[in-house]
Amino acid sequence: MKHEIFHYPALEDVRRASEGMDAFLPLAEKTEALFAPLSMGKIQVSNRIAFQPMEGTDGTDEGAPGEWTVRRYQRFAQAGPGMIWFEAVATLPEARASAHQLYLTEGNVDAFRRLTDGIREISLKENGYVPVLVMQATHSGRYAKPHGIPEPLIAYSCPPLEDTPVSVERIVSDDDLKRYEEAFAVTAKLCCRAGFDGMDVKCCHRYLACELLSAFTRPGPYGGSFENRTRFLKNCYRAAAGACEDSGFFLTSRMNVYDGFAWPWGFGVREGGGLEVCLEEPVRLIRELREEFGIPMINVTMGNPYRNPHVNRPYDHGNYVPEEHPLEGLSRMMDGVSRIQHAVPDVPVIGSAFSYLRQHAGNLAAGMVEGGHCAMAGFGRMAFAYPGFVREMREKGTIRPDRACVACGGCAALLRRGEPAGCVVRDREVYRL
Ligand SMILES: Cc1cc2nc3c(=O)[nH]c(=O)nc-3n(C[C@H](O)[C@H](O)[C@H](O)COP(=O)(O)O)c2cc1C
Repeated sequence: MKHEIFHYPALEDVRRASEGMDAFLPLAEKTEALFAPLSMGKIQVSNRIAFQPMEGTDGTDEGAPGEWTVRRYQRFAQAGPGMIWFEAVATLPEARASAHQLYLTEGNVDAFRRLTDGIREISLKENGYVPVLVMQATHSGRYAKPHGIPEPLIAYSCPPLEDTPVSVERIVSDDDLKRYEEAFAVTAKLCCRAGFDGMDVKCCHRYLACELLSAFTRPGPYGGSFENRTRFLKNCYRAAAGACEDSGFFLTSRMNVYDGFAWPWGFGVREGGGLEVCLEEPVRLIRELREEFGIPMINVTMGNPYRNPHVNRPYDHGNYVPEEHPLEGLSRMMDGVSRIQHAVPDVPVIGSAFSYLRQHAGNLAAGMVEGGHCAMAGFGRMAFAYPGFVREMREKGTIRPDRACVACGGCAALLRRGEPAGCVVRDREVYRL
């Protein structure tokens, strides 16, 4: 179904449109539910808003936070989300998704520490509380571009994703995977020293750990069965667990519960069912991560930003216009998040992809939290465009339409070019396409 650019000036317009297409979009009239504190075991968050990991491609050549990285996180700190889930930070030089992706090392750990200290100080001064800080540790796998050109390290040959016939040397060996697992131990130790409260073993958007979840066709110990496909992720957890002497330091993941590629090329899809969502394996995996590693929360997402970005972050501008209506994509995400939360009620779920609804995004976030469909709402593009939306919602219950994200894809376009990423509409003094 072709669709028009966003045309829902009133909340009622969204409600009517979503009812017309039988979409799952629980909208609340008020946004107060987002400002209730939450305990997740020993972890306390002051409100239900998380800023999602948003790569800025603005680290120094050595992988330390650059000037614009610092500016970005200072803006985030000022805004007052209960949690800041830091962008992807590489675990090895070859694991970087761009030449300027952050990469945490012994040589730059103090620079990260200054950044986390600064965030806490600013938020305490401006908001009276500190955000929980989680760092996303990544191996970019298929999307590795450490020198600005693709140098893919792939889990298995996946026809829907291959632009050229795969050269066998691009498939990582079992020994490579063991080495990558060990890197998570080093990163976890540094992450703790850098002042983060916890570390995300990144398992989403078809980067390496995520790609392995669908390695049905890979031979050997990392492919085929559920146990084998989840081996890398769990070994990364094993390597990272105990790396930090601070007993409060936690491990968690941002996880794709649905890839949006038909079986056997996708995780979270029904075998023989085309693109139909099937959450049996994701639910099993989250339960096992809870039992085996005590994850205090899970950040749920979907899709692949390179091949099906409408699944990952619904939008209605840009070069690639999907057939799917953005509200359908949003509904799939909300439904998936809700079904995971109900299947694992003891693991607080952070939902994703709220920004598409612009000025109504807070109403959807509050509706999801109020209805028990997730514990926290994660905002990505909106945090780039208008971090002040948190305060505006707290004080007035609204998000100004003339400040909100317009889901134009400009930030993602900058990221793809390997240029510092930010909002090209609302932060134009700094970011231009
Ligand atoms: C420029 C850009 C950078 C991103 N970087 C990351 C990242 O480092 N890690 C991650 O898990 N997701 C990343 N994402 C995905 C977002 O966290 C988020 O899931 C997505 O934008 C949908 O949420 P939204 O509708 O609130 O924007 C990125 C998205 C964009 C547009």
